[in-house]
Amino acid sequence: MSPTRRALTHALVYAPLFFLLAPDGTAGQDAFDGAAVSSPDGRTVVRVGEVDSRLGWEVHRDGEPLLLPGALGFEFRDAPAFGEGVAVGEPTFAEQDEWWEQPWGQVRRVHDHHNEMTVAVTESGAPGRTVHVVVRVFDDGVGLRYRFPEQAGWSEAVVMEERTQFHFADNGRAWWIPSDYVRLDRSEMLYSSSPVSVVDRVQTPITIESTDGETALVVHEAHLEGYPRMFLRSVAIEDRSLVADLAPMADGTKASLIFPAETPWRTIQIADRVEDLQPSTLALNLNPPSRIEDTSWIEPMKYVGIWWGMHINTFTWEQGPIHGATTENTKRYIDFAAANGMPGVLVEGWNVGWDGGWITNGDVFSFTEAYPDYDLEEVTRYAREKGAEIIMHNETSGGIYNYERQLEEAFDLYESLGIRSIKSGYVADTIPSGDSHYSQEAVRHHRLVLERAAEHGIMMNVHEPIHDTGERRTWPNMMTREGSRGQEYNAWSGDGGNPPEHESILFFTRMIPGPMDFTPGIVDLMRTNPDGSPRNEWEARPRTTLAKQLALYVVLWSPMQMAADLPENYEGHPAMRWLRAVPVDWEQTVVLDAEIGDHVVVARQERGTDAWYLGAVTDERARTVEVELDFLDAGRSYRAVIFEDGAGAHWKDDPLPMEIREVTVTGGDTFRIELAPGGGQAVEFLPMAR
Ligand code: NOJ
Ligand code: CA
Repeated sequence: MSPTRRALTHALVYAPLFFLLAPDGTAGQDAFDGAAVSSPDGRTVVRVGEVDSRLGWEVHRDGEPLLLPGALGFEFRDAPAFGEGVAVGEPTFAEQDEWWEQPWGQVRRVHDHHNEMTVAVTESGAPGRTVHVVVRVFDDGVGLRYRFPEQAGWSEAVVMEERTQFHFADNGRAWWIPSDYVRLDRSEMLYSSSPVSVVDRVQTPITIESTDGETALVVHEAHLEGYPRMFLRSVAIEDRSLVADLAPMADGTKASLIFPAETPWRTIQIADRVEDLQPSTLALNLNPPSRIEDTSWIEPMKYVGIWWGMHINTFTWEQGPIHGATTENTKRYIDFAAANGMPGVLVEGWNVGWDGGWITNGDVFSFTEAYPDYDLEEVTRYAREKGAEIIMHNETSGGIYNYERQLEEAFDLYESLGIRSIKSGYVADTIPSGDSHYSQEAVRHHRLVLERAAEHGIMMNVHEPIHDTGERRTWPNMMTREGSRGQEYNAWSGDGGNPPEHESILFFTRMIPGPMDFTPGIVDLMRTNPDGSPRNEWEARPRTTLAKQLALYVVLWSPMQMAADLPENYEGHPAMRWLRAVPVDWEQTVVLDAEIGDHVVVARQERGTDAWYLGAVTDERARTVEVELDFLDAGRSYRAVIFEDGAGAHWKDDPLPMEIREVTVTGGDTFRIELAPGGGQAVEFLPMAR
């Protein structure tokens, strides 16, 4: 795009003018009457206005359409829809250019640089209602939200549908998981890719690579509060349009709003290359600043736990001869955690409620009463003595009311025991009221727990969560969550486990809005069952090499990162050198090379030090990748400790060969990475004395 055009589109931000043509005057588009705002660099322009007197929006990038005109508006219960016969008022503009700091994360400093436009949209005839549309345009993407201001004669609404439409100009390749909240309300699925025109009903984030390879998009939402989660569904077969599809309440309604109210931001992250989609800060910038003033108690950490044993059936959650959560067993894990500098110890199955099929025990779980063979006071005392800490486990099986009833008492107890973090779980397709697992009611529940946890000095790691919409900016005790197929599927899924390409897709989909508790680090790569019989290809097991398990600590970042295997498998294992060293909190993140579904090479600088860590993963194909080490300080030498696939390593036939070697490198070097089929590489770069 020419500098003149850039200047022109930029000027539109400050000129509240209305116009009929696209700024570049391109023909062949629908004439669109509306108000526009552009990104600080002038490349992205969003216009909100009327198409045939229906409310709509469109997005251009470098003068070319990215989103063609698509609908905006709502359908309500017992009230006319909003969006037809409307007039768009004079826009008002604002701009923001500031840096802010995260207490922890995949980057420390975040740049919030955007232009904002607000338009009041008012019905020309009766009932004459007004809705505000607010747009923020950043260099890396767009956010659009609706505000319902207080107004005479309209004070509340029950939303039946939100009409927000994403009408893609290009039939790009979309990476997605399906949504199926009618029968299965979950996000733990494998990703597919297809042209966007054949996408049916999907979850967000959905990532789309343009057909010319020159643009990558992620459609998602930010600041989800007081509203249901958004899915997307196609408008018509072979159409390149997706519309908002809100998770329903049991009665089919979507959101009950009392004004003033606002929806989450509907976001489109935009990059020239897939590599530039990470680190992603768009959603963070669209959430309110921290509500926790003193965040010094919030500390990322590594952890171990009584967990994998239940997934591979060597322990049970319920009481019995191989109950995992015993005082004695927990002390063994505490000893291991303390000796290896991984302070957290997760203990699942400690509390009353697991017996007799825990998945349906949502009403039975006690969050304060331990099983008789688990002495909660003693294990927390012992952990403290050793310099470790218990991570409390709260599986709710979706029983949100049972949990809420006990919340105060349980959190008081945990606080009195010095417990600083909780892993919660919501295994269930709906919540007890019959509302969707992702409904407005479920969103309310998760915020409530997060706020109560903050009051008690507790960090959260949520499993079967609602997807990440950047709430950690406002509540930095929202550490990590699951919300995708994690390592557990490599223990018991009926389909062999996660395929070798899985993590290179997660990096560009699930991981865009935020961290994941994937639980990497299995070193016993389970080629046999617990009874010693061999596993075949279609029995679940990690389908990675050993070195790839280590690389996942950098690729799939998480401020609470588990060393998921059994302590006895780690004892004396060469991988421990890496597991002890790898940090969980980052100063900077740089994607060095990547293709969605093929491979990812990412480097991250440890927060507050000059050490860097690199993670590289590949799919089922062996690969050689060369990267420049220019992220390192020029003119400085580093000792690189390399954990790489050994000779003959192969995810299926021989996952274990791994070599550890050390070399000296500088920021001017090219670094060659050889990856085995299903393999990976983990590298620590330690600055040497000058
Ligand atoms: C599912 C969680 O993802 C897993 O980590 C946990 O062990 C079980 N639920 C039991 O809470
Ligand atoms: Ca799960």
